[in-house]
Amino acid sequence: MAITGLMGFGFVIMHMLGNLQIYLGQNVEGIYALDQYAKNLRAFGPMLYVARFGLLTIVLLHIVAAFQLTKISHQGRPVKYYKTVATGSDYASRTMRVSGPIVLLFIIYHLLDFTFGNVNPNFHEGQVYANVLASFSNPLISLFYIVAMLSLGLHMYHGLWSLFQSLGANNTKYNDLIRKFALLATLVVVIGNISIPISVLIGVIKK
Ligand code: HEM
Repeated sequence: MAITGLMGFGFVIMHMLGNLQIYLGQNVEGIYALDQYAKNLRAFGPMLYVARFGLLTIVLLHIVAAFQLTKISHQGRPVKYYKTVATGSDYASRTMRVSGPIVLLFIIYHLLDFTFGNVNPNFHEGQVYANVLASFSNPLISLFYIVAMLSLGLHMYHGLWSLFQSLGANNTKYNDLIRKFALLATLVVVIGNISIPISVLIGVIKK
């Protein structure tokens, strides 16, 4: 769970950095930086499919590990608690089995939106800037993305903290630093990604 989570985190950071190129607008030849970036990625050819397959494998392994952990946790306490009083857990950690499936549903919708284009009102292969603009011009779709990013934030915050514990780095000397890192990385990803639909809605990103 920890290793696949760490890999997922790596993807999310790189993807956000790629997405932020939307703010670079067009170059002198009138090509959007985001479209050029997508074109450069496609130039990797078969390697891109290897990376996509790797990413899919990571997501699937992460889900399998989640089911295994849930089973172990239920076996550890077969009879439900009469009353649950939270000690040593926070909202993010208690809602991992809710935020995880929300992120999964988001990824499925997101692929249909920007990769396959089935649910995008004006999808054109390779015209990534225009595709993002078309989708986020609908306030309901933007709202859905914002809610999904907040769920991703909760999931990431606890996941980042927890993965260091799983990998054996739960030393009282470092715990405070790990918490701060988890919070900072989460805020960067959530604010960076959420800024995009908001910028489209308020007209900062436009044709
Ligand atoms: C507001 C935030 C986001 C925006 C604007 C965005 C934008 C995009 C766009 C435009 C593409 C298609 C790129 C292309 O055709 O070259 C894409 C693909 C993708 N996105 Fe996002 N994304 C966002 C957040 C996320 C998040 C949080 C995740 C994962 C948790 C994610 C996972 C993916 C995946 C798996 C792909 C497919 C990659 C591929 O085709 O190989 N995205 N995204």
